[in-house]
Parts: sequence; C-alpha cells; structure tokens
Amino acid sequence: MEQDLRPGLYAAIFRRRDIRRFRPDAVPDAILGRVLLAAHHAPSVGFTQPWSFVIVRDLERRREVKRAFEQEREKNAALFSGARREQFLSFKLEGILEAPLNLIVTCEAGRFGAAVLGKPGVEQVELYSTCLAVQNLWLAARAEGLGVGWVSIMSNDALRSIFSIPPEVLPVAYLCVGYAERFSPRPTLQEAGWAPRLALEQLLRFEFWGAPSEDRARALARLARDADTWREIFPHGGMPEF
Ligand SMILES: Cc1cc2nc3c(=O)[nH]c(=O)nc-3n(C[C@H](O)[C@H](O)[C@H](O)COP(=O)(O)O)c2cc1C
Repeated sequence: MEQDLRPGLYAAIFRRRDIRRFRPDAVPDAILGRVLLAAHHAPSVGFTQPWSFVIVRDLERRREVKRAFEQEREKNAALFSGARREQFLSFKLEGILEAPLNLIVTCEAGRFGAAVLGKPGVEQVELYSTCLAVQNLWLAARAEGLGVGWVSIMSNDALRSIFSIPPEVLPVAYLCVGYAERFSPRPTLQEAGWAPRLALEQLLRFEFWGAPSEDRARALARLARDADTWREIFPHGGMPEF
C-alpha cells in the first residue's frame, strides 16, 4: 500500500509562512541540497526546467541588495498614505542580511530554443514553471524547519548588475533563507490587520464565470474546513489551523 502522503504535505502547506526574522545558524549544505533538488523537481512546461539557482552568502553583495531594497521600499511606500503608509513603514519586509543564506531563482525562457512543447499561445509559461519551483523550494524548506522570505521589493536591474545576470535570464525570486525564529499560524500581514484571508466561498464559481452560487460555494467551503475530515488525516492531533 502506498504510504499516506497527506499529513506531511498538508502540514507543510498550512504551516509554511513568509519569514523575515531568522536565527543566525548556518544552513548545512546537505539540507540546502535537498531543498534545491525539491525545487528542481517542480513541473515545467515541455519539461524545459527553465530555472537556475544563485546561492548567495557573500555579505558585501547582500549589502548592495539591501540598498536596492531600501530604494524600492521608498517607492512602494509612496503608493500608500496616512496610517496605511505608517503601517507599511513599520513592517519588516526582508531579512537580507540576517538570514545566513540568500537565493535567487531565475528563469531562462529560451534555454532549449523557441520551440517549446506546450507553448503555442501563452507567453509566460516558463515563468509559471519557475514559480512552481519556488513553491516546491518553499514547502521543502518548511519541512526542513527552514524559513523562506520572498523579497519582491527589489529592482531586477540592480540584481542583474550585482550578480552579473545576463539579459536572457530573468530574476524571478529573491529569497532569504534560514532557520526561522518562529512560524506563526497566520500570515504576518493578516496578524497585523493589513489584509484578511479571503473566504474560500467568495472565490468559487461553478461551471462558468458568471455563475457564482452562494449556497453551493458555502457548502463546499464548509466541507473543506470540516474538522472530521481533517481528523482522518491527523488522527493523533496536530491539525493545521486555517
Ligand atoms: C511573489 C511574492 C512576493 C512577495 N514579496 C514580499 C516582499 O517583498 N516582502 C515581504 O515581506 N513579503 C513578501 N511576500 C510574502 C507575502 O506577503 C506573504 O506570502 C503573504 O502575506 C501571505 O503570508 P504567508 O506566505 O506567510 O502565508 C511575497 C510573496 C510572494 C508570493
């Protein structure tokens, strides 16, 4: 009989967090290697595997990245005003220098030429594939007790220049990686009252876009959260919070 894959997978999914506070302990290469291998086993359009991973420990380069972050943060702050701006500025939105390790996940769309199985009309399929590699990495890291924080308040031009990334390669994700101080049960932005988690029922439509059905959506969402169905997967407790 196949091993029950559900407890570990759901635990990693529901307990994964975006992490911005790290302990200084180094990440052993054996663990980093496993996490990168998990990322590399993501699905990809036409099996193109368009990703690469830049492993960054050098503090001088990370200081340059931090300066780029600070400039972008100013621009991002300018989108908000009043109390919302104050709250934005109070958030810790990266752990570039505190995390022992930074990773850049890149996408090289034309790695095997222009003819790609599965790319007749959707331009960005390699980019989608790369984001799946990031998610694999994020979940594997969580299973290893490692926190990951995605820093998109960043300039790709700055990343290209600091890390000599060529024009045909797109920096997709700048990630801070290390042992987390803690994994909170809910997203930091939710805990701070910045944004709520939307209710699943609001996001469901049936058969076609113009057919939201509140009753069916509510029933399905209630079933999704039903404690009895989750107890089947976590019979000894440790049920995730959602
Ligand atoms: C593409 C992407 C970019 C993000 N960029 C940032 C960022 O620049 N700074 C930050 O603090 N969090 C960033 N986050 C983390 C989100 O704020 C976080 O995923 C969201 O609030 C939900 O929290 P959770 O990941 O802990 O569930 C990013 C997440 C994604 C997926």
